[in-house]
Parts: sequence; structure tokens; C-alpha cells
Amino acid sequence: MFEKERNVNPFKYGCVVDGEFFCPRPKLERQLKAFARSGQNVVIQGERRIGKTSLIKHSISGLRGMRMLYIDLYCIHTLFDFCRRVMNGITEVNEKMTFLKKAVSLAHTLRPTLSFDPITGSPQISIDAREADRPESLQAVMAMIKKLAEGERICVVFDEFQDILDLDRSDVILAELRSTIQFQSGTPFFFSGSVRNDMMKIFDDDQSPFFKSAVTFTVGAIEKPSFVRFIVSRFRKGDRLVDEETAGALVDYADSVTGDVQEICEAIWDATEAGDTVTVSDIPKALNLIFSREGEGFGEAVRQLTPLQVSFLRALAETDSQSMFSEEFMRRVGTNNTGSIRTAIKRLVAKRLIYQYGGRYRFANPFFKAWLSTR
Ligand SMILES: Nc1ncnc2c1ncn2[C@@H]1O[C@H](COP(=O)(O)OP(=O)(O)OP(=O)(O)O)[C@@H](O)[C@H]1O
Ligand SMILES: [Mg+2]
Repeated sequence: MFEKERNVNPFKYGCVVDGEFFCPRPKLERQLKAFARSGQNVVIQGERRIGKTSLIKHSISGLRGMRMLYIDLYCIHTLFDFCRRVMNGITEVNEKMTFLKKAVSLAHTLRPTLSFDPITGSPQISIDAREADRPESLQAVMAMIKKLAEGERICVVFDEFQDILDLDRSDVILAELRSTIQFQSGTPFFFSGSVRNDMMKIFDDDQSPFFKSAVTFTVGAIEKPSFVRFIVSRFRKGDRLVDEETAGALVDYADSVTGDVQEICEAIWDATEAGDTVTVSDIPKALNLIFSREGEGFGEAVRQLTPLQVSFLRALAETDSQSMFSEEFMRRVGTNNTGSIRTAIKRLVAKRLIYQYGGRYRFANPFFKAWLSTR
């Protein structure tokens, strides 16, 4: 092994992973590929940071004869944003000039211009904000996608699809999208989003135009035995020894949430030396490293809360209690009022600091929970 390779952290978090950083998920990959090949529309849902985006990109990019139009709708606010994200996606579908020029000419009503980044050389398509913020622009980009998909097989992926709900007149936009997609059988459309957001409202509400319009596919945790093997081999690659029991304890520590597991592994690697044997006693060192990187953000989150909300979080962190209205829990929070507990829960869920899962409330970020219990 090259000396250089051993000094590179073998774990990545906070970004989409592929190649050697991607722990294979053969069953899910096979299913997604089969859906794409058969032109099936699919809703892909799962926990935050569980690995939805990485899985989709890895699976579809590995399909011969099919290209992926990946459209990230995270935090879009206007139809202009929507169209711009579509055009961003277009530049990654196919780098051939004939394809890009065809896309530009099909989307001519948005006044697109094709240019190249002076440093990376990668293509960019910009559009006119004055032309794009209108209902017709949605029709224009969807018609462009339809035409492009007649020329080659394309799997269209809308990631963070639930953010469409934040647009003005989102009901009209969803209806319009649904009707164009409906007449495009043969082209697979994947809609991905996090279960904790409003994603399923779009597909499960019988008033929604997307009601039952796609099969549901759930991305869960990576199966523990294969995740453990992956972690052991990645540590070995990075010149650390870890046994399967310790790797399993790291998976458990992060509640099997893929991104959180990778974050703790990344920090442990960073906090240890070449040739070290990693044990669970290294976890506090890794946590300190994570706190030094993220503590400021955690502190800021706490400053935005009321004292009661903070004591609620602290009680939850310390007890992992399931009964928020028990005498013991309320004593810890410091209130006799069940209404105040209800309000605190509602606000903390809205701030996405906690969420309900399997009948109990949990921290959205296990490292925030650990940070809070040390203070
Ligand atoms: N197959 C995998 N093997 C190893 N690590 C993975 C895998 N999939 C995801 N990860 C880890 O999880 C993190 C989050 O992955 P990804 O962004 O794909 O998840 P997501 O479910 O789309 O998250 P979000 O809810 O934020 O959109 C990655 O940065 C990486 O650390
Ligand atoms: Mg994602």
C-alpha cells in the first residue's frame, strides 16, 4: 500500500459517496436498477442521512445504456429556481455538445445560454430569471425533458422532491408536473425525499395529484454484518486495526444511521494514529473532535431555544425516556404542566431537532445529543 493512501481518511460524510467510500447495497441497487430499466416511477423515502442520494446515484450511474438527469430541489423557492436546477442537471446528463445544444434549443423560451466554467471547463446553462418565473416555464422544461428522453434513455431523479411544497401555488405546480409525467410512460421518474419531511403527503394524500402515482421504495439502514465488514476493511485501508465487535458498537452508537456512522468513524480515524488498534474507548476522543468542529453550531441552536425547551432536551438526552408525561420526566424538565411539554415537543420537532420514531422521540443528530449531555 502506498504511504500516501494510508494517510487519507478512509471515511467520508456530509457528501454523496461513491467508489471505495460506498458500502455496497446489492439488493437495493438491483431493485432500483430494475425499476429504472422498466420505466417505473418510484418514490424513494428513508431517514435523513441514511444514504438515499448516494444509493440512487450509484445505482443509476452503473446502468448501461441509461443516463441520469439528477435534479436537486433542496430549498427551491420559486419556479425560476426549479428551472435552474433542471438546467444544472442537464449539464451532467451528457457532456456531448450536440446534446447540450439540443437542450438549449428546446428550452429557448427561457433564453438559455451555454457557457463553460473558465477553471474546470465544465458546461453551464444559465437562464433568464425574468422569463423563467412563470407557469409556462415549467411546461417548457418538462417538454424539453420529454424530447431529450426520446433521443436517449434517461432516468429523471427529483431529489428533495417535497421542497416543491414550499413554492407558491404548489398544488397547481404538482398537478401540472403530474400530468406531463403521466404522458411520458417509458421514462422512469424517481422522487426522493426524507420521511421526516412532507414527502409522503404528496403521494399518500388522496387529494394530491400524485396520489398513488408511483411505487414506494424505502431505504433503510445498511444491514449490520455488511456494514461492519465494510468499516473493518476501511479502517484497515487507513492503517488502523478494528475488530468486528468494535465496528458493531460504532454502528449501534450512531443508531445505524449511515451518515452518522461514517461521521463517527471519520473522527475516530482522525483521532488515532497509524498502526493503532481502535476500541470503544476511542469514542470520547472522536466525540471531542466532532464537538470542536460542530460545537459552535450546537451552541447557536441552543441559544434559539427557551429554557424549558433546553431542559426538555437535556432530560431526553439523559434518560432516553419514552414517557414524556411521567412524574419523573416532568420533574427533570422542571414543570408540572403537560401543556408546556406538548408545546416544547411541537417546537423542537418543527426546528427538526427531534423527531418521533417507533413511538418515541429521538434526537435528529446523535452528536448534538452527546454534546448536550456533557454540558
Ligand atoms: N452506501 C454507503 N456506504 C457508506 N457510506 C454511505 C453510504 N451511503 C451513504 N453514506 C454516508 O451517509 C452520508 C449521507 O449520504 P446521502 O447524502 O446519500 O444520504 P441521504 O439519505 O440522501 O441524506 P439526506 O437526508 O441528507 O438527503 C454520506 O455522506 C456518507 O457518509
Ligand atoms: Mg439526499
